[in-house]
Amino acid sequence: MAELVQNRLETLVSLCKRRGFVFPSSEIYGGINAVYDFGPLGVRLRRRIRDLWWREMVELRDDIEGVEAAILMNPMVWQASGHISNFSDPLVDCLGECHQRWRADHLEGDRCPNCGGPLSSPRQFNLMFKTFIGPVEEEGSVVYLRPETAQGMFVNFKNILGTSRQRIPFGIAQIGRSFRNEISTGNFIFRLRELEMMEMEWFTEPGDDARWFEYWCEQRMAWHQGLGIRADNLRLRPHGEDEKAHYALASSDIEYRYPWGWGELEGIARRGDYDLSRHQEVSGKDLQYTDPASGRRFLPFVVEPALGVDRTFLALLLDAYSEEVVKGETRVVLHLNARVAPYQVAVLPLSKKPELAAVARPLEHELRARFATDYDDTGSIGKRYRRQDEIGTPLAITVDFETLDDHAATVRDRDTMEQVRVPLSRLAEVCEERLG
Ligand code: GAP
Repeated sequence: MAELVQNRLETLVSLCKRRGFVFPSSEIYGGINAVYDFGPLGVRLRRRIRDLWWREMVELRDDIEGVEAAILMNPMVWQASGHISNFSDPLVDCLGECHQRWRADHLEGDRCPNCGGPLSSPRQFNLMFKTFIGPVEEEGSVVYLRPETAQGMFVNFKNILGTSRQRIPFGIAQIGRSFRNEISTGNFIFRLRELEMMEMEWFTEPGDDARWFEYWCEQRMAWHQGLGIRADNLRLRPHGEDEKAHYALASSDIEYRYPWGWGELEGIARRGDYDLSRHQEVSGKDLQYTDPASGRRFLPFVVEPALGVDRTFLALLLDAYSEEVVKGETRVVLHLNARVAPYQVAVLPLSKKPELAAVARPLEHELRARFATDYDDTGSIGKRYRRQDEIGTPLAITVDFETLDDHAATVRDRDTMEQVRVPLSRLAEVCEERLG
C-alpha cells in the first residue's frame, strides 16, 4: 500500500518536473526542503487557480473587497494575534541513532518511525520564520514572515470599512505568500515552508456567524467541484475540539482524498471576534463597527475560508491524472477542466514546411486572442499529441497538407481522442463550444 502511494506521487512529481510544472527550488545546489519553484506550465496553472478564486470571491460579488497587505508586519500584530505564543506544533527528537525530528501529533506509537529509537518528550516549536528589519540584528529588530495572510485583513479592517461603501455582512479577500517553518514536510507540495494562500475574512453580526459558516462551507465545496475535482474525492470534516486553531470557535476542513488518505485542502473557520478584539486591546484603537440604522456599536464576528494555491494545484493534478492503455501503449492524460488547463488549444502543423506554417501561425494567433494556445511543430504528430495529453490540453488542431485545399483542420479531443474535420472559418466557434 505504502509503495503504491509512493508510486502515484512519484509519477506525478516526475511528470511535473519533465513537463515544466514544478521544480525543486535552487535545484543545482541540491534544493531546499519543502520549497519549490513553478515552471512555465505550473505558472499557467497557478494563475488560473488564483484568477478563478479572485473572480468568484471578489469580482462577481458586491460584498467582498480585495487587499494586498505586506508580508512583513509590525511584530505587535503577531503578539496580539496569538501567533507568538500559540502558533506552534509539538516537536520530538529521536534519541536513538538517527536524531531525526518529528511532529509528535503526526506519529503513531512512541518510537522513531525511521530508526525505531526512543523519542524525547514533546516541546512546542513555533512555526514562524524570524528575521531582522534594518541593519542591526538585535532583539528589538525582530520581524516575522507572515504565517497567514489573514492578519493583514484584520489590521486593515477600519481602513477598508472607511474607504469602501460596505456594510456588514461583507468580506475582505487576499491572495499572497505565507511562510511556515513546518517540522514534518514531504508529500511533494502538500506541506510547504513557503506557500501561497487565498483567504477571505467575512465580517458579520455576532450570532449570524453560524449561518454564514454553513453558507461558506457549501460555497467553497461547490467551487472545488466546479474546478473539476470529483465529488467523491472531496468531503467536509468538522474539527474535533483538540484540533481547532487557537483563534477558532469551530472549523471544518474541506478534505481531498490524496494518495496517502484524506487530508486538508481548505480550512473554514469561525474566528468569532477573537482577532479584532485582540487587536483592539493591544493597539488601543477602536475597531468596532457602528450599525448605520441603530447606531449600535460592536465587534463583528468572522467566518474565514482559507485555501492554499499549492494544495489546490496538487489536488487538481492528482485528480486529473490517468494512465490508459490504447492499442497496447500507455497513454498518460491529465483530464484537467478547460478552465484550469495551462493550454486550452494546441495548434500542430503536421510538418515544419513553410506552406503549413503560413496557415497554422496566423490561425494560432487568431485563437490566442480567445484561448490559451500552444504552437508546436517539433517531432512526430503522435509524440506531440502525447505531450499535449500529458499536460492536459483539451483540444489539439492539426493543420495538414489537405488544409491547403479544403481550408479545414482536424480537431482532436484529449479525452475521447475523437477527431473531426472543421472548416478554418468555424474553428474558433467550435473551440468555444467544446471548451464550454
Ligand atoms: N488563516 C487561516 C489559516 O491559516 P490553515 O488551515 O492553517 O488556516 C489554510 O491554512 C490553508 O492553507 C490550508 O487549508 C491549506 O490549503 C494551506 N496550507 C496551510 N499550511 C500549508 C503548508 N505548509 N503547505 C501548503 N499549504 C498549506
